[in-house]
Amino acid sequence: MKNRVPLIAGNWKMFKTISEAADTAKQLANLVSDVEDIDIMIAPPFTALAAVSEIIRDTRIDLGAQNLFWEKEGAFTGEISAPMLIAAGCQYVIIGHSERRQYFGETDETVNQRIKTASTAGLIPILCVGETETQRDDQKTFSVLDKQVTKGLESLILDEHHSLVIAYEPVWAIGTGKTASPDQVQEVHAFLRDLLEKQFGNMHANATRILYGGSVKPDNASELMALPDIDGALVGGASLKPDSFARIIHF
Ligand code: 13P
Repeated sequence: MKNRVPLIAGNWKMFKTISEAADTAKQLANLVSDVEDIDIMIAPPFTALAAVSEIIRDTRIDLGAQNLFWEKEGAFTGEISAPMLIAAGCQYVIIGHSERRQYFGETDETVNQRIKTASTAGLIPILCVGETETQRDDQKTFSVLDKQVTKGLESLILDEHHSLVIAYEPVWAIGTGKTASPDQVQEVHAFLRDLLEKQFGNMHANATRILYGGSVKPDNASELMALPDIDGALVGGASLKPDSFARIIHF
């Protein structure tokens, strides 16, 4: 029996201007006004955070950012800090997405610094992990995930004020239309929960939500959400349209 409140999160990646993001958020808020017992988060690009924050203020939709830097402020051209995200209205921040690892040189060490910074500042970090197709073919899925989780969460402290979300996003399933099978997803999520138990103990392992991401669509969401260790979804493409994202939220 799952005792975790599901979280359906939308990662808008590098899509939408301020006005497009505001429109989408408005429509989404109307479509999910009936939803109870599910947490909802959207992560627009940095430029649209403040505008979207205003729109979702009195709704049950929370705001997330797609990255942060670990210093509070300083001469770090192009970076955004935790206090800036909090002032813009964020509760969550996505960290270590595979696109950041692949295109922007993120490593488990930099991911770890970001995770700890986010948590200390009072944001809920969403740590993204996942294997590439080659790693899965080479039977390295579990060793890759072990390293990403163990190093990514090294010396993180969890307590009643500091929680964490993990998103399992197999790289080969992102934006490809290929979803991992329910068996593959459940096997990995159970493994991740065991890792959390080793690192943080049973109580925190049971309280931590583990999301699945990778080609989640309205027609596969309910099957995935029924699995015992799946506590929600991190949705890319299908979160860009209010209608399809709302259908996923109503899984
Ligand atoms: P898609 O849902 O487009 O496959 O993207 C998943 C993802 O990367 C969410 O962070």
